Amino acid sequence: MKDQYNREINYLRLSVTDLCNLKCQYCMPADGVDKKSHNEILRIESYTKLVEAMTKLGVNKVRLTGGEPLVRRGILDLVKTIGSMREVKDLSITTNGVLLKDYAQKLKEAGLNRVNISLDTLNPVKYKKITRGGNFEEVINGIGAAKEAGLLPIKINVVVINHFNTDEIMDFIRLADEHVEVRFIELMPVGEVATWNKQKFISNQVLIDRYMDLFESQDSVYNGPAEYFIKKDNQGKVGFISSISDHFCNSCNRIRLTADGKLKLCLHSNREIDIKEALKLDANKLLSYLEDLIFNKPDQHYINDTEFIPVLRNMVGIGG
Ligand code: GTP
Ligand code: 5AD
Ligand code: SF4
Repeated sequence: MKDQYNREINYLRLSVTDLCNLKCQYCMPADGVDKKSHNEILRIESYTKLVEAMTKLGVNKVRLTGGEPLVRRGILDLVKTIGSMREVKDLSITTNGVLLKDYAQKLKEAGLNRVNISLDTLNPVKYKKITRGGNFEEVINGIGAAKEAGLLPIKINVVVINHFNTDEIMDFIRLADEHVEVRFIELMPVGEVATWNKQKFISNQVLIDRYMDLFESQDSVYNGPAEYFIKKDNQGKVGFISSISDHFCNSCNRIRLTADGKLKLCLHSNREIDIKEALKLDANKLLSYLEDLIFNKPDQHYINDTEFIPVLRNMVGIGG
């Protein structure tokens, strides 16, 4: 369906848990977040009901996020159910990759198409620091397992933090090949990050200028938040997600649901619509309720305005 700004909304991001087996510094506070009670978190059947309704409104792309989606009990059942819906052409997961070694093959068999993996450094010591305890080896093994299972293309998400990983851009670009896309993401002022020193932000336009010589051309296919370049050496793809310096709101095609049942029509808006009760409505009523909400998706984010109020919820509770 189209919203009031004529954007086709066909992409649904479902956060299936607000728990995580890591504690990335930009994602949650050092002492973690309060654990939600069992009945605050949506049941697997509620997700299924929402996806069914949304496919009737034109959604054909579904992404499961978290927290870490692979720690959610019942995740394979959910993948199986959504994967079997004819209308869903692209079913994927955004994960930190730690559990992929055990899950990749099972996810593939359940009907998952592909995975995006968060990895902000290639240095095991720095990895432990940014994730507050994570084991780099596990992610590397996870990437290997995803490749072996054919969950392709694998997209590596690198949140660029000035003076933390800006010395590793070249190493990340080297990683990109026929199966692996590397994407550099501008640090967004959400939750924890809203109070970070502005010096930690670096514009993707700086990186594009700096590494332009490694690229042969810009990819003409535009199918998401990333602007892609093709590498000269092996035709691998490198993407830049420039949410701040060059936002893509006018082509935004997505809405998100948090694990506690709140619909977010824009990542950078504090407006959350509790749809837990609506998910109990009969199918037709639910459909017109959702249609009305989606029509009113905001036109864009206002991060660069002086009066902008950053999103308070931490990223662990949104799913990116
Ligand atoms: P693909 O379908 O593989 O392109 O996935 P994706 O890029 O939509 O999803 P992923 O979970 O890998 O997110 C990558 C980055 O893009 C994360 O940092 C997200 O926060 C950011 N992102 C995703 N959607 C939006 C959005 O609507 N607005 C903004 N500003 N950033 C977004
Ligand atoms: N800015 C940019 N990207 C972020 N992510 C999490 N928090 C932020 C932030 N503040 C990324 C994660 C993950 C994706 C879903 O969002 O690294 O790959
Ligand atoms: Fe976990 Fe991802 Fe947040 Fe890191 S960014 S703490 S891996 S949910």
